[in-house]
Amino acid sequence: MKNLEALENQKAPSPETVPAFRYEPRASDREHIRELVAATGHFSPAEFDIAVELVEERLAKGPASGYEFVFLDDGDALIAYACYGEIPCTVGSYDLYWIAVDPARQGQGLGRLVMREVERLVHERGGRRLYADTSGSAQYAATRSFYERFGFTEEARLRDFYAVGDDKVVFGKAV
Ligand SMILES: CC(C)(COP(=O)(O)OP(=O)(O)OC[C@H]1O[C@@H](n2cnc3c(N)ncnc32)[C@H](O)[C@@H]1OP(=O)(O)O)[C@@H](O)C(=O)NCCC(=O)NCCS
Repeated sequence: MKNLEALENQKAPSPETVPAFRYEPRASDREHIRELVAATGHFSPAEFDIAVELVEERLAKGPASGYEFVFLDDGDALIAYACYGEIPCTVGSYDLYWIAVDPARQGQGLGRLVMREVERLVHERGGRRLYADTSGSAQYAATRSFYERFGFTEEARLRDFYAVGDDKVVFGKAV
């Protein structure tokens, strides 16, 4: 990717260092997404499968799948991505299904870049609200902080949703 190092060293990239986002999945993303989400150490093998299924749906059905992507590559390597889409049967409510950054690149502003790009695209499509589901468990405290950093607030909590003592927390924000 052009000027990636310069990009990582600053929080607000100048126009010359704005990365080349990619929006269209490639067949190779199936394996790259599996490797990326596995490398985060954050998700279970069943969740890896779901992440891959979303990109397979998109590859098979195109925009009709309802899944949109933002990818950041460094050469042939996928270093960050997000998957989002309009929630069926809503008008302008979007779900952020997935966001992940290669652990070797975390804490360098890439998650922020990808999140901001998702928000921009949702807004551009006429979206009003962006939601993100996560776990209320201690293991997900950093993920919840990440969402809160972007102005998401807790809008709903489903007690014992994932397991006893493991709530589902629905974060949301206006875009
Ligand atoms: C969450 C994740 C996408 C963040 O990506 P990142 O590139 O490390 O984040 P950034 O460096 O762009 O940081 C963006 C903001 O979030 C904050 N943040 C990032 N990681 C954080 C953490 N672990 N705890 C608290 N805040 C965090 C940063 O402080 C920063 O805010 P600031 O600029 O106001 O200081 C990444 O850590 C990741 O892939 N985690 C595992 C997967 C995951 O949890 N995905 C979300 C659920 S699908």
